[in-house]
Amino acid sequence: MGITALVTSGKGGAGKTTITVNLGATLAQKGARVVLVDFNMGLRNLDIYLGMEDCSLFDLGDVLTGVCKVEKALVHDERFGRLYMLPCPQFKEINGITAQHVAGLFGVLKNKFDYVLVDMPLGVGQMMENAASAADLGIVVVTPDYVSLRNADTVDRKLDVCGLQKRCFIINQVDLEILRSGSVPGIEHIARNMSTPLAGIIPYDENIHAGNNMGSPVVLAADSYIAKNFSSIALRVF
Ligand SMILES: Nc1ncnc2c1ncn2[C@@H]1O[C@H](COP(=O)(O)OP(=O)(O)OP(=O)(O)O)[C@@H](O)[C@H]1O
Ligand SMILES: [Mg+2]
Repeated sequence: MGITALVTSGKGGAGKTTITVNLGATLAQKGARVVLVDFNMGLRNLDIYLGMEDCSLFDLGDVLTGVCKVEKALVHDERFGRLYMLPCPQFKEINGITAQHVAGLFGVLKNKFDYVLVDMPLGVGQMMENAASAADLGIVVVTPDYVSLRNADTVDRKLDVCGLQKRCFIINQVDLEILRSGSVPGIEHIARNMSTPLAGIIPYDENIHAGNNMGSPVVLAADSYIAKNFSSIALRVF
């Protein structure tokens, strides 16, 4: 039976999709069976970061509404062993998704995969409540700024209220020069204000941004410091 982890944040653009893709690819490089699920209904971008746009006829909406079985909607990324993606609908509107639908989906995926990483929509909402009540782990992504920190704490509390006990956070887009200037919250300040363990720190790095845009996740360069960083984060998270 696999583990379902939600990758969340309080503020948009914190790095949920970047971390979902690179953490998932890292686990798959180590031999695990991994599926990345895009929960950003209508605003998907996991497929772009993997360079796999238009690769699937079916999507998460079709699975949740019973149009097809999950196998039909999975897309294999052969660059990373057993890494799969489950894209969400871009233009179709999907209504009436309940906590039971989401729990059923996670159950099916956990039978097939070691890790189910869910790229969550921004903030808190019904989809978050449905997902949190059925998931095993919450990963909150925060960037070093006060708004991101406050909203990350809000999301973390919401996960807790929804019964998701096992949680951690990752600090992303850390710029050492700005950090040293003292104008943004430092690592210790962030750690003191979050009530869960810190699982890792990811620097702001143009290679990460370029990799996302080229559909070539940065951990493809397995010897890079970023790939090693994601490996350490994977060990601490799971
Ligand atoms: N560590 C990093 N270094 C450089 N750029 C980064 C880093 N992390 C993320 N980015 C860039 O920041 C932007 C937002 O990242 P991403 O899409 O992963 O965030 P998100 O939390 O999924 O956003 P959304 O809330 O829109 O879903 C992207 O342009 C991405 O390439
Ligand atoms: Mg995203």
